[in-house]
Amino acid sequence: MSTILSQGRAVELDDVQGLVRFGYRHLTEACFLLLRVKDAAAARAWLARVPITNAVKAAPPQTALHVALTSEGLRALGVAPDLCEGFSAEFVAGMASDAGRARRLGDVGANDPKYWQWGVGERVPHVAVLLYAKSGRLAALAQEVEAQCAAGFMRIERLSTSAAQGVEPFGFVDGISQPQVDWERERPVRDWDQLEYNNLTCLGEFLLGYPNEYGLYTPRPLLAPQRDPGALLPRAEDASDHADLGRNGSYLVLRQLRQDVQGFWRELDRQAGGDADLRERLAAAMVGRKRNGEPLEAPSGKSVAGGTPTPRADLNEFTYLDDPRGLHCPLGAHIRRANPRNADLPSGTRGLLSRLCRVLGFNAAALEQDLVASTRFHRLLRRGRKYGADAAPALLAADSSPGAEAGLHFICLAANIKRQFEFVQSAWLMGSKFAGLSSERDPLLGHRLPDLGGSPTDGFSIPQAAGPDRRLSGLPQFVTVVGGAYFFLPGIRALRYLATTR
Ligand code: HEM
Repeated sequence: MSTILSQGRAVELDDVQGLVRFGYRHLTEACFLLLRVKDAAAARAWLARVPITNAVKAAPPQTALHVALTSEGLRALGVAPDLCEGFSAEFVAGMASDAGRARRLGDVGANDPKYWQWGVGERVPHVAVLLYAKSGRLAALAQEVEAQCAAGFMRIERLSTSAAQGVEPFGFVDGISQPQVDWERERPVRDWDQLEYNNLTCLGEFLLGYPNEYGLYTPRPLLAPQRDPGALLPRAEDASDHADLGRNGSYLVLRQLRQDVQGFWRELDRQAGGDADLRERLAAAMVGRKRNGEPLEAPSGKSVAGGTPTPRADLNEFTYLDDPRGLHCPLGAHIRRANPRNADLPSGTRGLLSRLCRVLGFNAAALEQDLVASTRFHRLLRRGRKYGADAAPALLAADSSPGAEAGLHFICLAANIKRQFEFVQSAWLMGSKFAGLSSERDPLLGHRLPDLGGSPTDGFSIPQAAGPDRRLSGLPQFVTVVGGAYFFLPGIRALRYLATTR
């Protein structure tokens, strides 16, 4: 068995789907097949033998194949209802299951699931097959896989992606900041009171069956041994008399986000009164980075604790600690909302007295920092790919017609959909009161509908060193949700178990 051993406790890399460990930058071609079960026996037979790429990296693979299932998919395959119910409530319910969730996620107005191309009713996928390949190899792989699974499944969508990744459709370098996953299990299991932002994140935040940032094991289906007579499943680390159906698995959130590239740049041009330099500065303020990826927040000069897995560490060595007002990077910029890079308590020195002062709010600067929840419980491992035409430089030309559809197949992995994806999406990105702001949601993703109190949310504030904030108002919606679903990306043994056990 291929393992990373740490503190005597192994991570079974040969049981983990490789997507959790690798983003496959070198596999420039990718497509995602969304399937529905049409013949459960044939579907199970395929899932029982399909070669899944694991997380052991002897040599970079030429192709990679991953399989994830929705809760409807588990039911359609005939998995026992009590097993299906053992997964998290939001996964069991599904992304588009109720109006409350839709409102929290910002799936209202033009984002309403009733307009989605997939993810609702008969177009909820049962299974997603994620295919990655080196240049020129995807078409043959996809054809082969589709032929293999034709007996068991009906395809509802084939989500294609652009070959040129690395720059998202609005034109910004993407894929820079990621949490550093603690594969070595170095982080102490109980690390109370982290006083500094730390990019090293407990394995259990992304893989079920391992301790998370609370030092706890995220709930997942644990089975009495007689439910697993063939001993297919790993034993639970925290309950060794139980088989662990979750171990080495993760939840996968997939959302198709259509980007109005032309609308974005035209609006910025309007706000900038045609001044090209200002247009760029406003766009960078909305993202929190310039188009080339350079952060607006000056690198602190000292490395971020926990390191960074990106090849461009120099683009990611900063926090917002020295910029509480958002003078360098606006408080509402996309990357600051998505990862405020803060610590548990407002930062300060260790020690009981210092802690007491901060907790009781006797430190005014600490109060500002305390407005935003601690980042380490809300990290996402992003694995999305862009789709559609590359942004044309002529988009601003007066006579240019709307370009072909482009956007992001947003994918993130997390062990807890609610605390990680749903929290980031609803409280931070869609939250109209994030960090004490008002009248604005995420400048890229906001749907601009008034908040519950009727206040507008179509603004964006750029704090100025002297004088009031610069305010943009009347922003239109730039990103529209056109599909989405919650999946479980099982460990490989768990996938075989689900495919062969009733
Ligand atoms: C079409 C939609 C989106 C666009 C155009 C977009 C664009 C970007 C860009 C340009 C960056 C900076 C580059 C980087 O650090 O990789 C970024 C970072 C990030 N985005 Fe998005 N994004 C989108 C949707 C989302 C969504 C839906 C989420 C979460 C629910 C999200 C979460 C993040 C996170 C966590 C980061 C890293 C922040 C950091 O650690 O500094 N993004 N995004």
